[in-house]
Amino acid sequence: MSAEALRAYGRSMTTTDQARAVLEDPRFLVPEAPAGGAAPGTMRWLRQSVARFGNGAVHRRRRALAEAELARLDETVLRDRARELARTTAPDLAPYVPVAVLAEALGARGEIVPAVRAVAAAYQPGASDTAMARADDGVATLMAGLPEGEPETVANLIGLLVQTCDATAALIVNARRQGGSSAEEATALALRHDPPVRATRRTAARGAVLDGCPVAEGTEVPVDLTGGLAFGHGIRPCPGSRCALALAHGVLDVLLEESR
Ligand code: HEM
Repeated sequence: MSAEALRAYGRSMTTTDQARAVLEDPRFLVPEAPAGGAAPGTMRWLRQSVARFGNGAVHRRRRALAEAELARLDETVLRDRARELARTTAPDLAPYVPVAVLAEALGARGEIVPAVRAVAAAYQPGASDTAMARADDGVATLMAGLPEGEPETVANLIGLLVQTCDATAALIVNARRQGGSSAEEATALALRHDPPVRATRRTAARGAVLDGCPVAEGTEVPVDLTGGLAFGHGIRPCPGSRCALALAHGVLDVLLEESR
């Protein structure tokens, strides 16, 4: 790769082969949440506590917490419940039925969808002060509604709800637009032609190499997921893909039936 191409990394997306290589390589890290100074139960604390923004051993421990929760879920039950709830939900709110169903399955009490949406809006770095304040309230609501547990466990339960929220809603909207003879066909088309999560990011650690060329430490690498990597790839693919599909299919069973 040319020196010019390497310098361009901060601005240009990877090709699909590069995306696979970056996502398989532990020398490309997820950008971590700024450490320290966060009061427990706040949005900053949440970002510091979830698998999504951790690397190395910390990431492995938190990811195992999330996977253990997901392993308890039955996808047939999730789909049936999503279908049931979608029948009594206004069409514009139907894309958020998955969050409500997952929250119920994780043992949450009360109406939690607005709180999850507020947290999701401020989950990635760069949120405004207003969005952060709303997200702080959302985290407090979720901590009160979810079963009590170790702080890191509760944070990663919230992480599951947040990761579900906008991505699964977008899959439902995109799949409905694609259409198809079944929910399965509609989501397959959407994941191929109009994926809900189109990109992610990594930061090069010391010694990172791509296409045989060194990438300077700290270089931000935007990673394109539109070439068949809708649920990520490599070291940390989406652990909730089966759950996401079960929930989206339940909602789409109803939406596609209604539009026939
Ligand atoms: C259509 C819906 C979804 C899509 C397209 C999607 C996509 C993704 C992608 C691309 C990543 C990797 C990000 C990266 O490598 O930087 C990811 C991570 C993650 N997803 Fe999903 N996701 C969806 C739904 C869900 C659901 C329903 C759950 C949980 C029930 C979930 C839980 C997670 C978690 C915990 C991570 C972080 C994993 C880690 O960092 O080790 N996702 N998702």
